[in-house]
Amino acid sequence: MSASKRYTITAALPYTNGPIHIGHLAGVYVPADIYARYKRLTGNDVAFICGSDEHGVPITIKAKKEGVTPQDIVDKYHAIIKKSFEDFGITFDNYSRTSAKTHHDTASEFFMTLYNKHEFVEEVTEQLYDEEANQFLADRFVTGTCPKCGNEEAYGDQCENCGTSLNATDLINPKSAITGNVPTLKETKHWFLPLNKHEAFLKEWILKGHKKDWKPNVYGQVKSWIDDGLRPRAVTRDLDWGIPVPIPGGEGKVLYVWFDAPIGYISATKEWAAREGKDWEPYWKDEHTKLVHFIGKDNIVFHCIIFPAMLKAEGSYILPDNVPANEFLNLEGNKLSTSKNWAVWLPDYLEDFPNEQDVLRYALTANAPESKDNDFTWKDFQARNNNELVAIFGNFINRVVVLTHKYYDGVVP
Ligand code: 2FM
Ligand code: ZN
Repeated sequence: MSASKRYTITAALPYTNGPIHIGHLAGVYVPADIYARYKRLTGNDVAFICGSDEHGVPITIKAKKEGVTPQDIVDKYHAIIKKSFEDFGITFDNYSRTSAKTHHDTASEFFMTLYNKHEFVEEVTEQLYDEEANQFLADRFVTGTCPKCGNEEAYGDQCENCGTSLNATDLINPKSAITGNVPTLKETKHWFLPLNKHEAFLKEWILKGHKKDWKPNVYGQVKSWIDDGLRPRAVTRDLDWGIPVPIPGGEGKVLYVWFDAPIGYISATKEWAAREGKDWEPYWKDEHTKLVHFIGKDNIVFHCIIFPAMLKAEGSYILPDNVPANEFLNLEGNKLSTSKNWAVWLPDYLEDFPNEQDVLRYALTANAPESKDNDFTWKDFQARNNNELVAIFGNFINRVVVLTHKYYDGVVP
């Protein structure tokens, strides 16, 4: 066995606008949990970190729809998500939330460090604006056609079809998700992370470094974005739900959710370390620590380009050793969807099968969407349970026990 190492293992912070479903489990949380359990069992020092991603537009949209505040939404779903992970047996060392004070402080400090190091470009630009809603349209407040792949449902910050990260003004035929109106343009000031400045480092680190041991889907996507050339990305937004921009001129603006969310891994580690009487810093700053991010394929650009550029610009952090991203799991042939309520929700599963956590873990692992999208069907779930777990595995255990009793007096020789 190799010598003990320190591992910081993170699982993508789920948006707190709905419960966890089997797609989240298969893509991120079950593989991350298997890896964390294995690393602990083989004697390593593991911090397995997750938490609720409580900012961002999806939460505001859900709150609007339900006529409640964003805080009501995150309080409700944080409790549901946390409990269902516990009941399912995911062994996080800490499950935190981005509304925690430690997180607000950590994200603000991170922003200030970059600001003081002149790592941002401050610029007044024209951004999409909804005159009727009186609001700037960033991220999921606007949809339009992706200039790269032609998907007509791309969001203002990303196309989920091809994974490309976008600026809202890149969208062709943009449409407000609030009123359906065609947006106008209005000037506003923001702080941009000049990714173009980090292109050389990213090329060296990912393309020329040892990253060929990354999964081909991850390496391939990242290579193609870098080859296309990187552009500055705004890391602030004209919204009122999020972490306030902590500098003069930042009044009424918040940090972009994808700026604060990955910092949530750091804040959650701090919270855990304080509780355990440990020092958090080696888990993020010791070059011998292995940092591994488990994510879904729609999160690749944020974990392989934007967050590493932030960590590098800050200067005192290690970079991820690997970013295993899975493809998606479909349900009975159709794409899983929170908004269309097409999913097997974890709290429902746990209510129907309160003692069958391992059956679902097995089915999702045997059928994991590791290198292509896979399909979950109840027929397959039933067949794996009856044919593989009960018939094959059950029979194997039965024989071992019977024969051990028959020939060895019930003692393993
Ligand atoms: O895609 C999502 O569900 C995001 N909330 C993942 C965030 S991961 C991390 F950076 F926080
Ligand atoms: Zn696209």
